[in-house]
Amino acid sequence: MAKDYCVLGIESSCDETGVALVRVSGPRLPELLAHALYSQIEMHQAYGGVVPELASRDHIRRVLPLTREVLQAAGKTLQEVDVVAFTRGPGLAGALLVGAGVACALGAALHKPVLGVHHLEGHLLSPFLSADPPEFPFVALLVSGGHTQLMQVDGVGRYQILGETIDDAAGEAFDKSAKLLGLGYPGGPALSKLAEIGDPVAFKLPRPLLHSGNLDFSFAGLKTAVMVQAKKLAMAQGCAVEALPNAVLADLAASTQAAIVEVLVKKSLAAIKGTGLSRLVVAGGVGANRSLREQLNRACAHRGVRVHYPELHLCTDNGAMIAMAAAMRLQSGMQTANEVYAFDVKPRWPLDEIMV
Ligand code: KG4
Ligand code: ZN
Repeated sequence: MAKDYCVLGIESSCDETGVALVRVSGPRLPELLAHALYSQIEMHQAYGGVVPELASRDHIRRVLPLTREVLQAAGKTLQEVDVVAFTRGPGLAGALLVGAGVACALGAALHKPVLGVHHLEGHLLSPFLSADPPEFPFVALLVSGGHTQLMQVDGVGRYQILGETIDDAAGEAFDKSAKLLGLGYPGGPALSKLAEIGDPVAFKLPRPLLHSGNLDFSFAGLKTAVMVQAKKLAMAQGCAVEALPNAVLADLAASTQAAIVEVLVKKSLAAIKGTGLSRLVVAGGVGANRSLREQLNRACAHRGVRVHYPELHLCTDNGAMIAMAAAMRLQSGMQTANEVYAFDVKPRWPLDEIMV
């Protein structure tokens, strides 16, 4: 591989089509030249959640126009793309196949190598795209819609899972609680917005596994507790949960968020203490949550721990993190892109399969 090259990244694992171009120049941190994103949220909203077949079809519609947009914004041509990276998994099979198919077709047509990337590694390395990038080693709190993990990260591909959820992910807890409060999809941003005007101590909700003595999480019971509390209130008022006064819903939202955030913060601090590291990196969609950021910042400042986040707009799925993860893997020398264009996708793909 030359010293300087451009990596095109394509993300299509769920309900966002993302494309981005990064430039690798020697050993320096890869630089984002341009990225473009199309969110399918509006289309799925009518169904209250992601409809996989509609997602796949929409990725097909969006991916090439977004690629053109990115190249134009970066002032590059397709011929100047040196590597085409795509999300190989985990995610929705049909949606992944679109990105993989387009990436491999582009690679074959351009005679350029391709590289399949792990979606979670994309999230994990996305803070390196921020104005305040971390340095290895660090503890990572990966909190997305499908995963909640604490990891020790010693370098690219050198990840050790310290703890993870045994049932629902943190994002799922936000989404499911929001849904049962009638806040629609996607629930995390809606619930956290409503929580801003609510009282976080209005309702006593469980902090699952807070004192488990390990770094695992469990959020399924919390969602049930929110449901029981909401139904109790609705029954007392003789209305449906969604018809509860906004102030009550806001208190429920704030109490739910407080429970999730407290567990995430305390377990992150325990991981910092256990590893002896002094740097925390937060990644994934829930990393956009304002309350989580405020509480982590406060707790870490007290302990002399530096916290790094992805830029707010790069917390949820995007192409930049896929291009970045591919670029950092290539740069570290742990992986090569190749000109084999027969592709597969991995809808289920444990992160430890890509660790070194
Ligand atoms: O990382 P991501 O885009 O998707 C997966 O890879 O799963 O994360 C999406 C998740 C959703 O559960 C969404 O509700 C949650 O991140 N999320 C938030 C916020 N923004 C997105 N949760 C809480 N507060 C937010 N501000
Ligand atoms: Zn994601």
